[in-house]
Amino acid sequence: MKARPAVAPDVSLGWIRRLAPMIARHRLLLGVSLIAALIALGTQVAVPAVIAAAIDTALVDQTAPIWGFVVILVALGIGRAIFAATYRYGLYKLAFDVETDLRSNLYRHLTRLSFSFYDRIQSGQVISRANADIRSVQMFLAFAPLIALSVLSFFLALGVMLTIDLKLTLLAVAPLPGVYLLGRVLRDRVFPLTWISQARLADLATVVDENINGVRVVKSFAAEKRQLDALARTAQRVRWANTTTADTRARYAPLMENLPRLGQVAVLGFGGWQVINGSLMIGDLVAFNIYIAMIQVPFRLLGFVLLLAQRARASAERIYEVLDTPPAIVDAPDAVPLIDPRGAVEFDDVRFAYTHPDGEKGPAVLDGLTLSLAPGERIALVGATGSGKSTVARLLPRFYDVDHGSIRIDGSDVRKVTLDSLRSAVGVVLDEPFLFSCSVAENIAFGRPEASREEIAAAASAAQADGFITALPAGYDTIVGERGLTLSGGQRQRIAIARMLLANPPVLVLDDATSAIDVAVEAAIHDSLETLLEGRTTLIIAHRMSTIALADRVALIEGGRIVATGTHAELMATEDRYRALLAHIDEAPRELADTPGVAAVVPPPPPGGLPGGMGGVML
Ligand SMILES: Nc1ncnc2c1ncn2[C@@H]1O[C@H](COP(=O)(O)OP(=O)(O)OP(=O)(O)O)[C@@H](O)[C@H]1O
Ligand SMILES: [Mg+2]
Repeated sequence: MKARPAVAPDVSLGWIRRLAPMIARHRLLLGVSLIAALIALGTQVAVPAVIAAAIDTALVDQTAPIWGFVVILVALGIGRAIFAATYRYGLYKLAFDVETDLRSNLYRHLTRLSFSFYDRIQSGQVISRANADIRSVQMFLAFAPLIALSVLSFFLALGVMLTIDLKLTLLAVAPLPGVYLLGRVLRDRVFPLTWISQARLADLATVVDENINGVRVVKSFAAEKRQLDALARTAQRVRWANTTTADTRARYAPLMENLPRLGQVAVLGFGGWQVINGSLMIGDLVAFNIYIAMIQVPFRLLGFVLLLAQRARASAERIYEVLDTPPAIVDAPDAVPLIDPRGAVEFDDVRFAYTHPDGEKGPAVLDGLTLSLAPGERIALVGATGSGKSTVARLLPRFYDVDHGSIRIDGSDVRKVTLDSLRSAVGVVLDEPFLFSCSVAENIAFGRPEASREEIAAAASAAQADGFITALPAGYDTIVGERGLTLSGGQRQRIAIARMLLANPPVLVLDDATSAIDVAVEAAIHDSLETLLEGRTTLIIAHRMSTIALADRVALIEGGRIVATGTHAELMATEDRYRALLAHIDEAPRELADTPGVAAVVPPPPPGGLPGGMGGVML
C-alpha cells in the first residue's frame, strides 16, 4: 500500500493547517471541485435573471420569442446539475480520503505506542473516541466548502438584487438577522441537548454491553432484575433528553421557517404595488422572489457550520493529542541488531516503578534487582503475588524501560539494540494469552506467518495442544471466537506456548504459562518442554512445584529484589521465606483445580474426543 501522508508535526500550527499535507495530496481534485462549484453557482444565480428577462420581454412586451429563453434555462439547468454533481462528488471524496488517511495514521500510531500508554487509557475507549472524532472532522471537511459556497451565493444574489431595486432589497434582507439569531438560539438550546442525548446513548450502550459481556456474572448472582432496572433508568434518561430536544425544536423551528416569509410578504406587497403603478417590471419581482430564498441559506446554516467547526476542532485536537504522544520505547539512534544471541541475560541493579494515569511515578516495584542467567540456564522466579515477577518479565523484552540500572543480553544493554531483534530473541508467554479471531493455525503461526503446516503441528504437539485442536470442528482451520467457539484458559495457554515454540527464540520468559493447565497435561507439556528448552535461556515464573522442577535454579523475589538464589533443595534447606512461600503457593493451584469448571477444563489429553465439562470447548 502507498504510504499515507501524515499530519504536519509542527504543534504550533492551527488544526486545519496541520491537516494540510493530507489535503494537499488532493490538490487537483480540490481545484477541479472548486472551479465546478463556481460554475454551478454562476448558473444558479443566472436562472432568476433569465426568468425575469423571459417574463418581461417574451410575455409582457412580446419583443422576443419565448423559446430562446426556454433553451437557455434548460441549458443552465443541465449545466448546473453536471457541475453541482462534480463538485459535490469531489468535495465528499476529499473529505472521505482525508478521513481514511487520518484513520490509518491514528491506528498506525496506536500500534506503535508503548505499554505505558495503554496502562493510562482504556483501549476500548481510545477506539470509540477516535472513531467519533475522525467522523466529526470528516463532517466538517465535507460541509464547510458547501457552506462557504452558500455564503458566496448570498453575495452574488444580493448584488443582483441591488441592481434591481434598493428598497426591495432592504425589505428582503430585514428579517435575516432575526433568522440568524433564531438559528443561534435554536443551536444553543438544542445542541447541548443533542450532546446530552448522545452521551446518554453511550451510557446506555455501556450498560447493555456490560450486561451482555458480563451475562455469566449477572446470571450467577441472579441479578437480572437489578440490571434490568439499571437499564430502564438509563433508557429513561435517554428518553428525557430526546423529548426535550423535540420540544425545543417544535417551539423554534417553525418560527425560523416562517420569519423569512415575512420578508417575502413585504416584498410581494411593496413590489406588487410598484409593479401596479409601473415603477417595477413583473419579471424582476419574480426573480426577486427566487433570490430571497437563495440569500437565506447561509443564515440558516451559519450556526450549524460554526458548531461543526467547534466540534471538529475539539475532535482534531484530541486526535493530535494521541498522534503527538511519542512512543515511550523506540530504537536508540545508534541501535544495533542483536545477532545470533547466545542468551546470557543479566539484570543489574534494576529499579522500576509504573507510571500512574496522572503521570506520577508509583512506588518502586523493583528496587535493586540483580539476577543473571547463563546461556541455556533455566531459572524459576518465585515470589508472593504482587512481588513484581510479571514486571521482570515485561522489562526483558523492553515493554517498559528500567528507571535505574540495566538489563543486558550477551552484554548489550537492551536499550542499545533494535527492538525488532530484541523481541525476536526474547519469547514471552504472558499470563493472559491473547488469541486473535482467526484460525488456530494462524494464531500459532503469528510470530512466523510463513511456517508450514507440519511445523505448526509439531509446535502444537510439543505444547500438548495437538489433541484438542484436531478434535475441533475444522481442526487447525477452526476460527477462534466464531459462532461461540471459545477455548478454555488452559487451551489458550497451550496455543500460546505453541506460538512461542514456533517462533523459536533463544531466550524464553514463561509467565505463569501453565497456570490454567491441568496437572497431568502440564506434566506432559513439561516432558516436551524438557527437550525444547534445551539450550535456551529460560526465565520461568512459577506458582507450582511442578514448574519449579523444570528449572536449574530458583530465584526468590521479595521487596523488589532477589533475596536468595540456589537450587530448590538448597533453598528448601536454608530459606525459611522460600519454604513459607511454597507452603502457600502450592496450595493455591490445587484449590483452583478442585473448583468445578476449572479442573474440568482439561481432562487427560483427549485422544480425539472433545474435552467435556463446562470449561471445555463450547460449541
Ligand atoms: N500496568 C501497571 N500499572 C501500574 N501498576 C502495576 C501494573 N502492573 C502491575 N502493577 C503493580 O506492580 C506490582 C507488581 O505486579 P506484578 O504483576 O509484577 O506482580 P506478580 O509478582 O506478577 O504478581 P502475580 O503473582 O499475582 O502475577 C503490583 O503491586 C501491581 O499492582
Ligand atoms: Mg504476574
